[in-house]
Amino acid sequence: MKLVTGAVNTSEESLLEKQNREIAYKAAIEGIVLLKNNGALPLTNKKVALYGAGAINTIKGGTGSGEVNERYSVNIYDGLKNRGFEITSQNWLDIYQHEYDEVKRINFEKNKEAGNNILKAKNMMWLVANPEKIVVENLITEDDLKNSDTDTAIYVVSRQAGEAGDRLLSNSDYNLTENEITNIRTIASYYKNTILVLNVGSSMDLNSIDDIDLSAVIFFCQQGEEGGNALADILSGEVNPSGKLTDSWPVKYEDLPYHSEYSYMKEDKFNEEYHEDIYVGYRYYDTFKVEPRFPFGYGLSYTDFHIHYLDTELNGSEVTVKLNVKNTGERKGKEIVQLYVSAPDKMIRKEYQRLVGFGKTKELEPNEIETVTITFDMKDCASFEESTSQYILESGSYILRAGNCSRNTNVISTIELSQDVVVSKHAKLSMKVDDFEILESVKRNTEEYDVPHLTLDPSSVVTKEFDYDTYEEAFDPNAKMILDKLTTKEKIDVVVGAGFISGFVPEKIYTPGTVGKTTVSLYKKGLVNVNLCDGPAGVRILRRSAYKGKMPRLIEMPMEFMNYFPDIIMNRVKANEKDEVLYQYATAFPVATSLAQSWNKELWTNVGEAVSKEMDKYLVTYWLAPGMNIHRNPLCGRNFEYYSEDPFLSGMAAAHITKGVQSTPGSYVTIKHFACNNQEDNRDYRNSKLSVRALREIYLKGFEYCVKSSKPKALMTSYNLINGVYAMNCKDTIDTILRKEWGFDGVVMTDWYSTKDDCGRPEVAVKVGNDMLMPGTKHDKKEITKALKDKRLTMAELDRAALRIITQIINSNVAQKYKPEDFD
Ligand code: BGC
Repeated sequence: MKLVTGAVNTSEESLLEKQNREIAYKAAIEGIVLLKNNGALPLTNKKVALYGAGAINTIKGGTGSGEVNERYSVNIYDGLKNRGFEITSQNWLDIYQHEYDEVKRINFEKNKEAGNNILKAKNMMWLVANPEKIVVENLITEDDLKNSDTDTAIYVVSRQAGEAGDRLLSNSDYNLTENEITNIRTIASYYKNTILVLNVGSSMDLNSIDDIDLSAVIFFCQQGEEGGNALADILSGEVNPSGKLTDSWPVKYEDLPYHSEYSYMKEDKFNEEYHEDIYVGYRYYDTFKVEPRFPFGYGLSYTDFHIHYLDTELNGSEVTVKLNVKNTGERKGKEIVQLYVSAPDKMIRKEYQRLVGFGKTKELEPNEIETVTITFDMKDCASFEESTSQYILESGSYILRAGNCSRNTNVISTIELSQDVVVSKHAKLSMKVDDFEILESVKRNTEEYDVPHLTLDPSSVVTKEFDYDTYEEAFDPNAKMILDKLTTKEKIDVVVGAGFISGFVPEKIYTPGTVGKTTVSLYKKGLVNVNLCDGPAGVRILRRSAYKGKMPRLIEMPMEFMNYFPDIIMNRVKANEKDEVLYQYATAFPVATSLAQSWNKELWTNVGEAVSKEMDKYLVTYWLAPGMNIHRNPLCGRNFEYYSEDPFLSGMAAAHITKGVQSTPGSYVTIKHFACNNQEDNRDYRNSKLSVRALREIYLKGFEYCVKSSKPKALMTSYNLINGVYAMNCKDTIDTILRKEWGFDGVVMTDWYSTKDDCGRPEVAVKVGNDMLMPGTKHDKKEITKALKDKRLTMAELDRAALRIITQIINSNVAQKYKPEDFD
């Protein structure tokens, strides 16, 4: 056998594709959030005027590595038609489309020219950071209105963002354009019902249209390949919306703390100071009493629910809360119950409240009741005290608040603690935190509530201590046997990836369109190569490719921006018409923010399972997802790839998706980007400066939940520095916290080319437990060899990294199907 691939030579739609399309539809339905409704929705008639940039060119996801190449996506126009809507604004849409195509053509030429010059500039990232942004703005005319013959208009605003660049606070990105405002104003004053649909990966500014009386606003987000159908079903009332926001939306951007200090807005492009400290998202709005436009956890339904508190039980430090949810309206629907805790505000300043649990009901019929049970551990209410390096539960009253949104809760019970309790004791980190201004909160008043008071026995919390010195990992003896046969050079081949574009090496286990692979040169020593491919909105591989001789041939590019690659490269990689075509169709699921907006644990697991089936089919071992950084600012270019401003919710979403993906033996997630990748501009050189408390309580917390509850097999470090140390070289986060405190025993890998231009150091990565250098370069190999010689890196450290990787390769999904000796 020479090579195996999951790509096939027929383009017919497979059963798996059909099944996964259904899951993509379910996820899209649950990720849509209804933000405003004056009764216009659900629509009573199916005749609508459809306008706006996203009507036909609906954006299904973000750009860059977060893109997915699906067979086809249902745009909003087609979705409405599929569901029997009549669209009466065809003329406007045709003119729009004509202009769009023209702008696209001009943009392409401009970008192509830039692409051809890029070789000289040696800066391919320029192309990534400048995805095609098409703003076409034809105004809606009197004739459009008159000819539309309906009382209902839908206006779709769309925006796209992606890695390597942050969103602009300009009129064509975070804000609405002048023409969009004019158009929305025009239709709102003409039609009885005006429905605004926001087709964007995270929040955007609506301040400029606050004076316009819209009938309804929908945060459609970016919904993958079934978005159009899902939206049509929500509009018609076929399905009741049940998504809720995972971020707070400000009234205006300036409401954010230190708003002008974010990313490109300030002079210093090398330091990002996290002035707001732990007060991210609702932790800020609630503590500092700032009114958000839409609060965290908010979303409307077409029916009403009543949440009736039943009971709180305390068992040791574990709390169980029971509530009845009754559908008191006239349509069936699902409700999300959220539980928040306000901890006593004493020596350690606290956020007003934090999310500790949630539960989503099944679809309840009118009058139907479901009991929702939420459990959490009081230990998760502790705060990190920097001076002692301990998580502490301070004495006092812990107030439990339950409701259907962070700003719509009732106090249901309190848990009283008579003395301070140390939950865990941690090593002092070696990173040096510079002095910079940190937002200080004012002390809250204590309030009394007439609700049941339970008492937490301080002795039920046993202080956790970590043994940082004698930490040991168990290795697979079969992996050890392979390692023992390897030369030093071969061990280095194991830890340094075998390159970026698939097919170039060439690998024997071949997945066109993956972005990395492990070594292909050790088949004779018992190791197959495994492939790594992107997410998080699906499995990003190539739909159509060809393979001839030793070279892969591309028929289309894996990412949009790659179409601007210089001709000299394109001519080399593009397929020849006579080559045999290989097909792979993977599903485009909603983006991570949308998935999180479902607040549906079962759905997350189902999406993970669906992904793992595609990985299995196309021979992908590592999925480079979930992405789980915190939405610190709405302008972060990658927010769509991440879940939320809240670490607990992010951790839960990632944990359930991990559970789904890893339910297929040997298929692995790679949670990323560890950590503090909260801005994209200058991401290779930017130093995220933050307190150790904010690092632990906010930016690492989601990763911690996921690692502890679902044991993800791999983790990717980020490009940035954390308090002066490159994340890929950071012993504090990788060794002390991730491995020794949380017990992570999988593979840590770098983000792609993060050792370039002397950013992170390859040998330091291996030394601190960052095992796999991706996608792998000659420079990485040279530096590791040198470091071994100079004794800056020991053989034991190299062995440890290699062993972790070998263990995962020999237990991978592909190694279970193919043996190294099956290949020539
Ligand atoms: C991104 C990663 C991605 C990798 C491989 C990098 O530019 O930051 O998220 O997994 O490329 O495509």
